[in-house]
Amino acid sequence: MESAVNQRIILTGFMGVGKSTVARFLSFILKCKKIDLDAAIEEAERRSIAEIIEHIGEADYRRIETENLCRVLTDKDAQIIALGGGAWTIEENRRLIKQHDFTTVWLESTFEHCWRNISGSKRVRPLAKSKTQARQLFYERQKLYCLADWHFIVKPDLTSFEIAKKIAEEVF
Ligand code: S3P
Repeated sequence: MESAVNQRIILTGFMGVGKSTVARFLSFILKCKKIDLDAAIEEAERRSIAEIIEHIGEADYRRIETENLCRVLTDKDAQIIALGGGAWTIEENRRLIKQHDFTTVWLESTFEHCWRNISGSKRVRPLAKSKTQARQLFYERQKLYCLADWHFIVKPDLTSFEIAKKIAEEVF
């Protein structure tokens, strides 16, 4: 696919912040290929992430996640990758992402904003079963999301399309 940009972008951020939707709009605006890591894992494993985590536990899930991250990072056509919320928190994954020359954008928002989306979504998120569990994870991870190259503050009044447009204007 011929694309208007030469920079490769990773979107990271907490569950429910809108990484997948923003990645979809970014790929539409910039006319380039995007990969959603969670979807790539579910396709490769032929089961949902919730099922994988429930069956083999989070530690083994992270191993599968890293294997799939390696695979998508080496897809030369993929210019935009949306990570699952935990992928960026693994040091090995951050190293691989840097090694493959991606620019990382942290979609930063408040916990309440993310929780509204998590609790209103049909998607099962095994690591955010309760608000208390999700809140704890949210605050633990802030210092790691902070390591991303760009921080984009997601204001609740912006639509995902507007966020994608602003990222496209500011980052590219
Ligand atoms: C996770 C986030 C999920 C998914 C998995 C673990 C996490 O992705 O990868 O349930 O640890 O934050 P989303 O951020 O797309 O919900």
